[in-house]
Amino acid sequence: MSGIDMWEMTATLGEQLRAAARREPPEVPAASTALVCGMGGSGISGDFASVLAEVHGRRVAVHKGYGLPRWAREERPQVVAVSYSGNTEETLEAAREAATAGLDVVAVTSGGELAELAAESGWPCLQVPGGLQPRAALGHLLGAVLAAGEAAGWLPSQRQALSEAADLVDSLHAQGSTGRALATDLADALDGRIVVVYGSVGLTAPVAQRWKTQINENAKWPAWWSLLPELDHNEIVGWSSLAHLTRRVVGIVTLTDHADHPQVALRHRLTQRLTSGEVAWVGEVTSLGESELARMMSLVAVGDLVSLELAGRAGVDAAAVEVIERLKQLMRHETARKDQGET
Ligand code: PA5
Repeated sequence: MSGIDMWEMTATLGEQLRAAARREPPEVPAASTALVCGMGGSGISGDFASVLAEVHGRRVAVHKGYGLPRWAREERPQVVAVSYSGNTEETLEAAREAATAGLDVVAVTSGGELAELAAESGWPCLQVPGGLQPRAALGHLLGAVLAAGEAAGWLPSQRQALSEAADLVDSLHAQGSTGRALATDLADALDGRIVVVYGSVGLTAPVAQRWKTQINENAKWPAWWSLLPELDHNEIVGWSSLAHLTRRVVGIVTLTDHADHPQVALRHRLTQRLTSGEVAWVGEVTSLGESELARMMSLVAVGDLVSLELAGRAGVDAAAVEVIERLKQLMRHETARKDQGET
């Protein structure tokens, strides 16, 4: 057991968004586009930022891997390197390559090697508070990425939206709230089932991914995500041959937003109708709020609660991510052995 209570950490999301609304934009060079580099609980802040940038007609790409995409050397986006721990090797390599290519780099981290590298290299470093799990720091990380965007000029201020999102998340997280009740009902329906989360291109895409990864990491539970309209062109066919299994063990949650394309809204309804006989349960959760950010965060808040409810039902420590830590340790060990062999 890690000893850190994930319920408490998760409950700080509203406060994190509120703090992000108050964050002063840093001094950074102007940029019309950005490349957010980061993995896991850090990298997903880029997926949310990318959707918001698209709403405002700007392109923000997300890079979740080693090195730097080749196009970035030509197009010269602002590179935002996000790593909560500051020690993620893929993100560190991306940041170093970006600097070598002469691109402007901004670091977002609670410390570690990334903070040191930023200090040595003179990159602006947006510090976020430490002591949380990366996935429980989404409000801080996203707030910092949005501040970098506002400062560079690739995103208009999101302060009002951050405040709205903060209040909405707090109301959904409150004891006895409709958010809590909904999460309990969803966890009852998904208990013992493999979870598949359906969103659609745009606002609900990063949220579907977030639901999946929160269920994986908090509940240690298998979950996957897919997006409409694409899934209607392939995945929907895949529910019939093993229906004797999927009817027992798969639950599909659909995430919707009032601004979904009308054809997507129709597809959601028809897809639910066509899959409902092939899986154990299908259900839908709709966003709340006005701004795009608040609508996304309303769905995040419910998904986070569902993952914690499922962790409780599985009897696991929601905070612990031992396999990730073990894998990182093995990677360091094997890389050091390889490097020694080469010298
Ligand atoms: O949730 C997690 O712990 C992971 O997904 C991490 O976020 C991921 O391994 C990257 O680490 P960091 O966020 O510290 O860069």
